[in-house]
Amino acid sequence: MKNSEKTEIAIIGGTGFEKLLGKARQLRLGTPYGIPAPLYVGKINRKRIVLLLRHGPNHSIPPHKINYKANIYALYKIGVERILATNAVGAINLNFKPGDIVVPDDFVDFTKLRCTTFFDKAPVTHIDVSQPYCPEIRKLLIETARRLGFNVRNKAVLVCTEGPRYETPAEIEMFRRLGCEVVGMTGIPEAVLARELEMCYASICYVSNMAAGIQERLTALELSKVSKNVVPKIEQVLIEAIKTLPHKRNCPCANALRDARFG
Ligand code: HPA
Repeated sequence: MKNSEKTEIAIIGGTGFEKLLGKARQLRLGTPYGIPAPLYVGKINRKRIVLLLRHGPNHSIPPHKINYKANIYALYKIGVERILATNAVGAINLNFKPGDIVVPDDFVDFTKLRCTTFFDKAPVTHIDVSQPYCPEIRKLLIETARRLGFNVRNKAVLVCTEGPRYETPAEIEMFRRLGCEVVGMTGIPEAVLARELEMCYASICYVSNMAAGIQERLTALELSKVSKNVVPKIEQVLIEAIKTLPHKRNCPCANALRDARFG
């Protein structure tokens, strides 16, 4: 790949982020893991950015059918070193409310059917997730959101469920007792796969609803109403964060494989 083709920063977004890059060129790639979601290459402040819409352009890929490995591998192949992701979540913590912006610092994986590793064979690889999200990008997202005047929750445990159904009230109560504060269906295995390829990854989430059993019903209409209001704020944070992201990485993510293997 020519150096001028290299794209070091990626945004992974859900539905509603289609226009984030303005003018962008679509890139279709194949990977050993299958076809990723379409990638769009554009610019923010002269930096080349790739946008990946994980649900596809028309919200046609449900959370449990997203090809997470193909998506992350495609980003890796075009030279991406840092991923700024965003996810819609339901709030389990009663102090959170719809419209809130949350930057999780930890996660619990309750997915059931997803392949969560690139390392199915030797060398056996155990990636360290003591610090599950990139500390440098988390800090930047929090500081940027605050600078723009948005209220942001700077810590939360995210639980990822398989979907596509929402959770039952009993499941949400269980997650609450386990210390989980927000729930979503797409944050994992993205974060883990990115770490395995030594890419930085952090997510800025927005609360689209209170989780099941806390509010009476969950409807697509209500969730999209909340999302419509908050998505422009998230886009603003992502764009401003990328403008100030230092060129050199100052975090341990780039060396994630260094101590991950025996022998
Ligand atoms: N549960 C799971 N995923 C979600 C929710 C929820 O309540 N809201 C947005 N994504």
